[in-house]
Amino acid sequence: MGQLSRGARHRTSGGMSERRPPVPAHAREAHWLGAMPATAAKVLRRGSTVRGYQVGELVFSPSAVPAHVYVLEDGLVRLFRLTPAGEEFTLRYIRPGELFGEMSVVSGRPREGFAQARVASKILWITRAAFVTTLRAHNSLLYSVTRKIAGRVIEYQSRAEELIFQDARRRLARFLLRVATKHGQRDGEGLTVALPLTHAEIASGIGTSRQTVSRFLRELIDAGLVTRSGGQLVLPDPSRLEAIE
Ligand code: CMP
Repeated sequence: MGQLSRGARHRTSGGMSERRPPVPAHAREAHWLGAMPATAAKVLRRGSTVRGYQVGELVFSPSAVPAHVYVLEDGLVRLFRLTPAGEEFTLRYIRPGELFGEMSVVSGRPREGFAQARVASKILWITRAAFVTTLRAHNSLLYSVTRKIAGRVIEYQSRAEELIFQDARRRLARFLLRVATKHGQRDGEGLTVALPLTHAEIASGIGTSRQTVSRFLRELIDAGLVTRSGGQLVLPDPSRLEAIE
């Protein structure tokens, strides 16, 4: 595995300042444990611990036999991989209530990615044994994890298509729409992107350079497709961003 890039090594690098807006409460999803039979939730809770993380801390890194899966209780987590050249590729952001780190455990393959607390976070660690035992015992749970993984595969097919067929300007527009739809909120000014993103971090999500993100973001702002409000990016009319050629 290559060296960690700056953003992963340094807890407060890449503009992760405390001045950034907090993650809005509405961006939570139903807690993963809440959707399962009470007995199963009890077994899982018994085999788990909650840990606190500071901004920038790694939650996990690649491992041949990962020992845990995780549920974000509070905060924001970024999942990423490192390219052979040591560049970060951001996979996605995890919202409170979401399960993550399950793919390697379900597949029995090594974990290849990293998870990093993007703001101060609380994370539930569930042991591999407790997770697998519970999945085996409850079809409804197995089905919900299968649905989640299938959804992620479909989402990544779209992203692969974007990376292959779309230019950086359109990828930036799609990225902003995706993040705003998942994590943002609608108010009188439009749809707020609502994540504490640096230009370098956006670049790591769309496979381009920080300079290219800065240039195209400036163009989108000049064209009125994106505005800034209270330190956040806002999409006044998302349909205009969707229509970008
Ligand atoms: P795991 O493979 O254990 O560790 C990295 C985690 O990132 C993975 O589990 C998922 O929770 C998440 N992850 C990896 N790849 C994807 C993907 N393509 N889409 C969404 N989430 C992913």
